[in-house]
Amino acid sequence: MQKYYIVICVLLFSYSVFTEDLPYIPNYGVRCMRCICTATIGDCDLTLGCKEGYCGPFRISRVYWIDAGNITLPQDTPERNNAYEDCALEYNCAQRILLGYFHQYARDCNSDGVTNCDDYAMLHVNGRGQCHPPVNRTERGKAWWDKYTKCDPLDRAEFRFQQF
Ligand SMILES: *[C@@H]1O[C@H](CO)[C@@H](O)[C@H](O)[C@H]1NC(C)=O
Ligand SMILES: *[C@@H]1O[C@H](CO)[C@@H](O)[C@H](O)[C@H]1NC(C)=O
Repeated sequence: MQKYYIVICVLLFSYSVFTEDLPYIPNYGVRCMRCICTATIGDCDLTLGCKEGYCGPFRISRVYWIDAGNITLPQDTPERNNAYEDCALEYNCAQRILLGYFHQYARDCNSDGVTNCDDYAMLHVNGRGQCHPPVNRTERGKAWWDKYTKCDPLDRAEFRFQQF
């Protein structure tokens, strides 16, 4: 009986992680996204607001938000004015935008045989079109990547969607 219960829980959990509105964020994703946020301008500053087309601590653009699946705050709708801004500005909601983006466009960006946080970091910075070029190829990218690589190697190795 207990065995079935565990199987059902696992199934429900895996399902809920990948449904449209992504209600739960897995722990390993939280740690990876924290690394990405810390590498971003302002070192994950929650008060950055929107500037030059980028919003919140992850500097999310509207295009990125749409590509991620128009994720909104609970009880909000994508059509509402400022739905994008309000979600991107709120840490938890912004994480769900990243998760939606990664879930759809995840791949082995650095061709090392695994898809982990390093690839999500590259995807986040380079965008879904061309995630393969090293992030540190530019001055700004190098600054970003240097900060990112200070993150705990365990956190950087986590976050594999591949196994699902
Ligand atoms: C997201 O919004 C854009 C523009 O408002 C729309 O074209 C697109 O179909 C929406 N995508 C989803 C998954 O709802
Ligand atoms: C750029 O990053 C790669 C790993 O993605 C690393 O091997 C290389 O040494 C880095 N180059 C510089 C100049 O930091």
